[in-house]
Amino acid sequence: MRALVVGPGAEGRFAEVPEPEPGPGQALVEVRQASVNFSDLRHMGRLPEGTVLGYDAAGVVLRAAEDGTGPREGARVAAFGAGAWAERAAFDTGSIAVVPDGVDLVRAAALPMAGLTALRSLRAAGPAPGSRVLVTGASGAVGRLAVQLARRAGAHVIASVSRPERAARLASGLGAAVDVAVGRDGVEPVDVAVGLDGVEPVDVVIETVGGPALVAAWALL
Ligand SMILES: NC(=O)c1ccc[n+]([C@@H]2O[C@H](COP(=O)([O-])OP(=O)(O)OC[C@H]3O[C@@H](n4cnc5c(N)ncnc54)[C@H](OP(=O)(O)O)[C@@H]3O)[C@@H](O)[C@H]2O)c1
Repeated sequence: MRALVVGPGAEGRFAEVPEPEPGPGQALVEVRQASVNFSDLRHMGRLPEGTVLGYDAAGVVLRAAEDGTGPREGARVAAFGAGAWAERAAFDTGSIAVVPDGVDLVRAAALPMAGLTALRSLRAAGPAPGSRVLVTGASGAVGRLAVQLARRAGAHVIASVSRPERAARLASGLGAAVDVAVGRDGVEPVDVAVGLDGVEPVDVVIETVGGPALVAAWALL
């Protein structure tokens, strides 16, 4: 089968690779869509030549797991695991989610890594309804999802972005998403801030930028 692998110069290239061999707790997925994350590009140069790249995929289960766990054959799924940028990939059934009807696989493929990062960070922080949650890098992959999930949990969200044009795009994009997620009535708008100057103290910080932004954000706790 074909896959995107690490080439000799640490670049990504298409190559023929062996079919994956699923273990007992793994399902074989026909990958129809895949997405790119920051870490895929960042770590490419550190992986051995020939490694199949990618972590996020969406597709259809070709063979259900032998141990009976996970989705049935034919299910539309999103999946997370190494080696996702291939025509077929084996994923642990604990890292596979059935995609609801009405959600297309393109969107589903963008969710696993960034979505889980946002979701688990927020769960760890435990934002209660009404708590003030600051999300830095809010126009980015993790940030956008963290903003939406925190809103859905009832938090007051302050979304920090790098420059004004990001603020406008984020606000217009999230307007629709927030409406869909929680309805218009009684929902506070997300506060979009350019930088952190003037932001009032917060209860939770989801920090995705690093460096001085990290220090400044923590100082607001
Ligand atoms: N993607 C994942 O699934 C994942 C998983 C685990 C951990 N992480 C980590 O989370 C971090 C973010 O990843 P990501 O994939 O979300 O990256 P990303 O899509 O590149 O998002 C980063 C965002 O930060 C913004 N930004 C940069 N400087 C800023 C500043 N001074 N103030 C406010 N916003 C600023 C960028 O906006 P501009 O483009 O305008 O500069 C960009 O929208 C990385 O450290 C990554 O390693 C990511």
